[in-house]
Amino acid sequence: MQILHIAGARPNFMKIAPLIKEIGRYPDDFQQKLLHTGQHYDETMSDIFFSDLGIPHPDIHLGIGSGTHAVQTGRIMIEIEPVLLKLKPDLVLVVGDVNSTLACSLVASKLEIPVAHVEAGLRSFDRRMPEEINRLLTDQIADYLFTTDMNANKNLLNEGIAEYKIHFVGNVMIDSLLSFKEKALETGILANLGLVAGEYALLTLHRPSNVDDRKVLQGILEALIEIQTHQPIIFPVHPRTKKRIIEFGMSEMVEDAAGLQMMDPVGYLEFLNLMANASFVLTDSGGIQEETTILGVPCCTLRENTERPITITMGTNVLAGCEKEKIVKLALKFKESTRTGIQIPEFWDGRAAERIVKVLRKLGPDQVTGQN
Ligand code: UD1
Ligand code: UDP
Repeated sequence: MQILHIAGARPNFMKIAPLIKEIGRYPDDFQQKLLHTGQHYDETMSDIFFSDLGIPHPDIHLGIGSGTHAVQTGRIMIEIEPVLLKLKPDLVLVVGDVNSTLACSLVASKLEIPVAHVEAGLRSFDRRMPEEINRLLTDQIADYLFTTDMNANKNLLNEGIAEYKIHFVGNVMIDSLLSFKEKALETGILANLGLVAGEYALLTLHRPSNVDDRKVLQGILEALIEIQTHQPIIFPVHPRTKKRIIEFGMSEMVEDAAGLQMMDPVGYLEFLNLMANASFVLTDSGGIQEETTILGVPCCTLRENTERPITITMGTNVLAGCEKEKIVKLALKFKESTRTGIQIPEFWDGRAAERIVKVLRKLGPDQVTGQN
């Protein structure tokens, strides 16, 4: 069976790494190629993950870059079509919920190439979130839907997806975390930044709803300025956020806050080390809500909702919303607290890729078909 992996944006790389490795264990059953759409392209948003995670160089690079949703999605679709026509893969494997995920699924599906979606069924039930549209549509056209928890199975069944297409396999992002944690803890990032374990908070921020709206961003930054007077905050800044802080004239305001240490995004290993040793994490990232649950680090999510509710019911996650007072109150409470009673969600055990490959191996070369 010839598999074409799709990756394009930062959160894709830690999801494909364990899949490529596991599929590579069965050279008699699978040939695999990797296509990078180029949705993310900065060294710190793309290349660094290939070296950190040991991902092979992409076989095809579309070099798409940034644009509006329509431009970016449309360009990926136009560029991938001839590639699929030429390669004729037996299966296109997509992960997550970014524009690259939807664009490639859509083209493959219309060419009657089966699509497997890893991390299917997550729902925030908030259609203002571009990722929610990507998730809903990808899941409607995918042939094999691999889920991280049983809430996702329920969501898919509620949307009329046939049960036989859905496979509960666990979380590939956690496969990466568990296999790279030891190596990550050996990186010298804490010493390089002059940090003491447990005595700093870690922050990431990039959701359009938080950073593209001047008033919302202002409120969040004011909250951070208050929090950093109690606990230093390490802030690897996403390029979207960096652009907005400059555009909205907020650079001075954040630079004046001595306890808010801003820097370029960091690689996977360094980030994992920073996360594991933080007293708490402030974030609007999807993946980081899951990683902090496994690391047992309190996570204060700067959003009103989450597509990953299991990180709240079982893990360390709390929704703080995006209003100043609530964020400050929760963060300061987190600073003092130690979480107990954290549970590890089922199958977040480092073996999700193994389960996915088991499903794929059962299909055999003749059985993999579009099932729609
Ligand atoms: C994308 C995903 C989001 C994911 C996030 C992970 C979609 C709809 N959004 O959001 O789900 O959580 O990636 O990080 O797919 N930029 C650079 N260099 C880069 C990449 C981006 O400067 O390497 C800047 C550009 O100004 C660009 C902006 O960041 O316009 C946003 O990039 P884009 O890929 O459109 O969306 P993200 O916010 O990164
Ligand atoms: N991450 C990283 N460096 C950073 C910030 C995040 O390696 O500076 C990792 C993080 O550990 C997680 C992934 O990037 O594995 C999450 O990506 P992101 O927050 O960009 O996307 P989302 O999960 O929100 O889609």
